[in-house]
Amino acid sequence: AGDLPLWERPRTTRSLSPEYRGVSACHLNYIPQEYPGHGVSDFRQPAIHPRHSDGSTVCDLVFQDYQISADKPGLPGLPAARGGNSQTLLIRLADQRTGLVVELSYTIYAEHDVLSRSARISNQGTAMLNLQSAFSSALDLPAGDYELLHLAGSWSREFETQRMPLPAGRFIVESARGASSAVHSPFVVVMEQGSNEEQGCVYATALLYSGNFAISIEQGEFGDIRVLAGINPFNFNWQLAPGASFQTPESLQVFSRQGLDGMSQIWHRFIAEKISPQQFAHQARPAYFNSWEAAYFSVDEAKMLALASQVRSLGLDLLVMDDGWFEGRNSDRTSLGDWTADRQRFPGGLETLAAGVHRQGLRFGLWVEPEMINRQSRLYATHPDWLIGVAGQPSSPARNQFVLDLSRDEVVEHLYSVMDTLLGSGSISYIKWDMNRYMTEVGSSALSAEQQGEVAHRYLLGLYRLLDRLTQKYPTVLFENCASGGGRFDLGMLHYMAQGWLSDMCDPVGRLEIVNGASYLFPPSTMAAYIGPSPNHQNGRISSLQSRGHVTFFCAARGVSLSATEMEAEQAGLQDLVSCYRESADMVVNAGFHRLLKTGNEVCWQLTAADGSEVYLGYFYLLASPNAQFRRVRLRGLDPQSFYCRAGRKEKLSGAALMHAGLAMPVMSLNQSIAGVDYMPAGDFSSVLLKLQRVQ
Ligand code: DGJ
Repeated sequence: AGDLPLWERPRTTRSLSPEYRGVSACHLNYIPQEYPGHGVSDFRQPAIHPRHSDGSTVCDLVFQDYQISADKPGLPGLPAARGGNSQTLLIRLADQRTGLVVELSYTIYAEHDVLSRSARISNQGTAMLNLQSAFSSALDLPAGDYELLHLAGSWSREFETQRMPLPAGRFIVESARGASSAVHSPFVVVMEQGSNEEQGCVYATALLYSGNFAISIEQGEFGDIRVLAGINPFNFNWQLAPGASFQTPESLQVFSRQGLDGMSQIWHRFIAEKISPQQFAHQARPAYFNSWEAAYFSVDEAKMLALASQVRSLGLDLLVMDDGWFEGRNSDRTSLGDWTADRQRFPGGLETLAAGVHRQGLRFGLWVEPEMINRQSRLYATHPDWLIGVAGQPSSPARNQFVLDLSRDEVVEHLYSVMDTLLGSGSISYIKWDMNRYMTEVGSSALSAEQQGEVAHRYLLGLYRLLDRLTQKYPTVLFENCASGGGRFDLGMLHYMAQGWLSDMCDPVGRLEIVNGASYLFPPSTMAAYIGPSPNHQNGRISSLQSRGHVTFFCAARGVSLSATEMEAEQAGLQDLVSCYRESADMVVNAGFHRLLKTGNEVCWQLTAADGSEVYLGYFYLLASPNAQFRRVRLRGLDPQSFYCRAGRKEKLSGAALMHAGLAMPVMSLNQSIAGVDYMPAGDFSSVLLKLQRVQ
């Protein structure tokens, strides 16, 4: 520390704090660090925690050198943000006693306020090294009054927004379930106390990773904050042989002075430009029919073809056959693993069905869940050892299924050939890739006892390899990521798949909360939603077609999942909604999204076309209240000088007026008789969708 420039030297002596290497007043316990080790005067959680061959876990990382290069290298075997108009700084640190070397990578972009970080850890010593933890990034923030925002939930209530003051001590969002999970998202915001949508300094971290992750936020004894993000150290252990390297997943960091909306705008643009598959990021998504809530497992050729003609008459583009189509799959007890069409219900196979669907002028899409296996399957009879499991310990089924061991090359190879056969026919233009259970009894019979702590991460490496090969070979097939809804909706998966099924919750009230929370990080272009039945199959709520349709409108991939009878009963309303979806398909995939209002009873969102020519507002009112207050909502991001007109109206309002004085929302009333007053339907779970056009 004596060599540090003056401004980097510690400012004061801290009583009882050890002095690093005996340098006076140099306490790592207090000094901000980029990638802290452990045991050399910093008591906080380290970014890296090796166990060396001598049994010690002390890690003293010292700066060696740095290098700056144009653009951004990819991460071997892992999803990563693309480069382009960027620069990368590599900083090399070493623990001289053991030969452990860490290469920190930082990429900055000319057009995006995003910092991409990762670490590559190499063993340049002569003995085996045991990595007990290796985070992707560390961020040490100065003391201050901060709040924390993160997204938590469970099946059917994913992405619930959690906001709280930062406690002293350590707070962790994490998963140890083998998938990022619906329980916590790999995304955390630390922000100045009192920050709101438009104001306040916010520091956000998100991981491009779909497995066991941890983001730890620690408030140290001097009020300083450390944010560590990366693979969850719990149950992780990596054997690093001499000469070998370990690459951490990528961590992304965003800073905004314009509050949470400012932050979301940065994320949304970056995800579309640098993470989503390029060929789809800006492409209008097909409006689709999905058979799940229409037919569940009881799908067959005749029923699907009859549905196809009805789907066509609604104006939809794509018919997706969900679960239930393969050999013997008439319930969730059987057949995962046997990916050929059930011959009794599909006598002509998938080819004949796809041809019939195509004849209706529709594209054909298919549901698969390749990572899973039922014991009742031909695959299990042939390869009972291909499951994740621990010898001698009974495996815990979930939804009657088990997880295939994707840490094994032969399993990945098999799944590749299964998918290659399905897609090779050329008749499938969309795949819904589902994953419906988390991992238990994590172990692989193909790895040594010392390597069992590697299984969960190796599984992800296998999955990413598989997805990479498939999406490279079939670049025109649109993949949708699903894990019982949002059980693995993260930037890692969205790197391979342009859109994801956010949640099985299609009730508009439940969905409002989910989309609102997810939108802190994810743009509408990544979100898929459909109009499901009422009463809703998850919570029994009865809602109008209109409010279901309006919530769905704010996701770029929109569709319908209703039975033949339900579609017939709502035909006219569905036709209107589908035609609105199709007209706005280009707009929504490129639009700016803003959370304008969220109270306990009202939500208002704004979508603005990329060229600013159209603006949509969705105003949702949960429980009807009589004689309610008049609500004005201030819009965002308009051109103050331009004028805007409501569709079908003559009055013009300037962008400045809409942003500063706001727009009066329609009034809910049973008595809708006064001419010139803007009303919305009375009753619970009401909504309106307003369209404004820029007129000059
Ligand atoms: C869970 C998904 O979230 C549903 O949409 C559906 O595809 C089922 N799996 C099918 O088993």
